[in-house]
Amino acid sequence: MDKQVIIALDFPDAERTFSFLSLFKEQKPFVKIGMELFYALGPDAVREIKARGHRVFLDLKLHDIPNTVKSAMAVIRTLGADMTNIHASGGSAMMRAALEGLTAPDGTRPLLIAVTQLTSTSQQMLEDELLIKEDMQTVVSRYAKNAKESGLDGVVCSPLEARAVKAACGDAFLAVTPGVRFADTDAGDQVRITTPAKAGELGSDFIVMGRPITRAPDPVQAYKRAMTEFGGIIK
Ligand code: C5P
Repeated sequence: MDKQVIIALDFPDAERTFSFLSLFKEQKPFVKIGMELFYALGPDAVREIKARGHRVFLDLKLHDIPNTVKSAMAVIRTLGADMTNIHASGGSAMMRAALEGLTAPDGTRPLLIAVTQLTSTSQQMLEDELLIKEDMQTVVSRYAKNAKESGLDGVVCSPLEARAVKAACGDAFLAVTPGVRFADTDAGDQVRITTPAKAGELGSDFIVMGRPITRAPDPVQAYKRAMTEFGGIIK
């Protein structure tokens, strides 16, 4: 699979989303539709952005009882996304149910990945609020193993954990990594962060970048910079 920068389309409405996408004349970046845009535009967001020729990661981070997740995934399956996700903390039964719901009768399905720990979560928060006393890498690697054993394609984690994930689950298991910032931009609310180049070195397969691209003075140039630093091939 080719290494790609996935742009997080964290916009509240159609106008801002499509005027942003219209800036890209030559490239069709892989994009991420998260909760904000999905709740604003509904399933049509996926259909319309796919129709414009983009690959779509539908980032809704499902986390509920297995039966509910399975039924929701059966609906998501019809939208045409290329990748979608759930929380690994929902457990193996939930992850297997998600996979079942997402798989079409002919056996095809989008990539399914699991969120391990959010990249805004610090070690201290893990211990003090979630009452998880293990270190972050151990937690992320264990959640990744659970995801792999449940049949998933990969995980969402910080680039800083990509190596540990690959060591635990093998090279083909995907590491999709948000929490990426250019060396000279603001971290915002992200905690476990690194640069596109470092993410590439550490073994990320896809980096997810939102604000450093969407809020850049020249988003197309910022996207190209991210792709070049990461080592992806611009399409
Ligand atoms: O703007 P920024 O680059 O921080 O955007 C990162 C995107 O990745 C956001 O849409 C956020 O919801 C998502 N994400 C994340 N950490 C995770 C999973 C998803 O930041 N663990």
